[in-house]
Amino acid sequence: MQITPSILNADLANLGAEVRRIPGADWVHVDVMDNHFVPNLTLGLPVVESLRQHTGLPLDAHLMIEDPDRWAPQYAEAGCGSVTFHIEAAAAPVRLAREIRAQGARASMALKPATPIEPYEDLLPELDMVLVMTVEPGFGGQKFLDLCLPKIRRARALMDKYGVETWLQVDGGVSLETIERCAEAGADVFVAGSAVYRADDPDAMVAELRAAAEAARA
Ligand code: DX5
Ligand code: ZN
Repeated sequence: MQITPSILNADLANLGAEVRRIPGADWVHVDVMDNHFVPNLTLGLPVVESLRQHTGLPLDAHLMIEDPDRWAPQYAEAGCGSVTFHIEAAAAPVRLAREIRAQGARASMALKPATPIEPYEDLLPELDMVLVMTVEPGFGGQKFLDLCLPKIRRARALMDKYGVETWLQVDGGVSLETIERCAEAGADVFVAGSAVYRADDPDAMVAELRAAAEAARA
C-alpha cells in the first residue's frame, strides 16, 4: 500500500519546501498538464528537473498531455521513477512503454473515467502500473466518482488473470472518506492531493491514509 501525494494543490511557488512536508510519502506525484489534453496548464520538464534536486523521494510523473509518445521518455530520462501516459493520447503505447522502461523508469498507463480497461488487457505485461482516474483529469479537489470502482475491480481481476505484478493506482478525490473503497476494490497505490496538502499535518495524513488502506485490504 503506497501513498503518493500530488503536489498540484501545494504551493507551486515553493515546491522544494512543500515536498519536505511529506517525508513519509512513498512517491511524489507530479501532475503535468498541457492545456490541450486537459483544460489546465501546470508544469513541465524544467520544473521536474529542478524538483528532482530538492527531494530524495522518487517522482511519479502523471502526464496529462497530448503526444506522450514524443514527451514521456524525456521524463524518464530526467530521473522520474515512474512515468504515466494517458492511453487516450498515446499513438503507439507498446513502443512508448518500452521506451520508458529502457530509460530505467516504471511505465504506466492511465485511463480516464469513461475509458474501459478491457481493450488494453494484452498490454498489461508491458506495464508496471495502471492508473484508474477517479475524477475527470484536470483539477485537484474534485469529488470522487464511485462509478469508477467496478473498473478498479475488473483491472485487478485482469492483473490476476495475467499473473502480472502490475501496480494499480487510483487518482482523484482520494481521502480518508474514499480510500477504503478503493483498497477494497483492489487498488494498491493511492494519489491524494487536496486531502494531504489541505491537512494541518500533511505527513500525518499520509500515515493515516496508508493505515486506512491497509485496514481495508486486510
Ligand atoms: C487530477 C490530478 C490529480 C489531482 C488529485 O487531474 O491528476 O493528481 O491532483 O487531487 P485530489 O486528490 O485533490 O483529487
Ligand atoms: Zn494525477
